[in-house]
This record gives sequence, structure tokens and C-alpha cells, in this order.
Amino acid sequence: SKVFYLQPDGVEKVIEGTDGESVMTTAVKNGVRGIVGQCGGALSCATCHVFLAEDELDNFSAPSEDEDDMLDCAATDREPNSRLSCQLLLREGSDIHVTIPSSQL
Ligand code: FES
Repeated sequence: SKVFYLQPDGVEKVIEGTDGESVMTTAVKNGVRGIVGQCGGALSCATCHVFLAEDELDNFSAPSEDEDDMLDCAATDREPNSRLSCQLLLREGSDIHVTIPSSQL
């Protein structure tokens, strides 16, 4: 499936990712600006914070308690559609649209 990464300056990057990998891993592999993924997906950095498209929130299970705690530590204040992109896994047949917070650039 495809991941659409929208930068705060309006530039969009579309990556054809591998199902089962995370939105964070897909970004890091493809040099998407603003998604660092410092901890490698261990829920201890919040450098993979993104805003998930509102109409795709229900495609994923709700954030775990650990993810929820880490979102409070993100460099950009969280919004109701904030997620840590290392927890969002690509699934066949559903594209994912995320916006990268400006303070991560
Ligand atoms: Fe560190 Fe997602 S990569 S919390």
C-alpha cells in the first residue's frame, strides 16, 4: 500500500511501502524529512509523531497506553489525530495519509 507524507510546507511524498512495515520505517528507508524514528519503534522517542488523516483513524486500533504517554512528550503538541508512526503498520489495500508536524523539520 501507499503512504502519503505531507510536509508542513505542502510538499507531499508518496511511497509504495511494504505491507507489515510501519509508517516510520517506510519513511526512514525512503528519506522522508521529519520522521526520525530515533528509538527504532520502541515507543521511547516520539520523533516519529505524525497527524493521521481523520478519516483513517478508525483503520487502526487505538493508541496503547505507552504510545499515549509518549505522545505527551512529542516536540509538537498533540492533536486528537496524533499517532506515533512506528505503531501504524501498512496493510494491503489501504493507503495511509499522514502530515508531519512542523517542529520535526
Ligand atoms: Fe521512537 Fe516511534 S520511533 S516512538
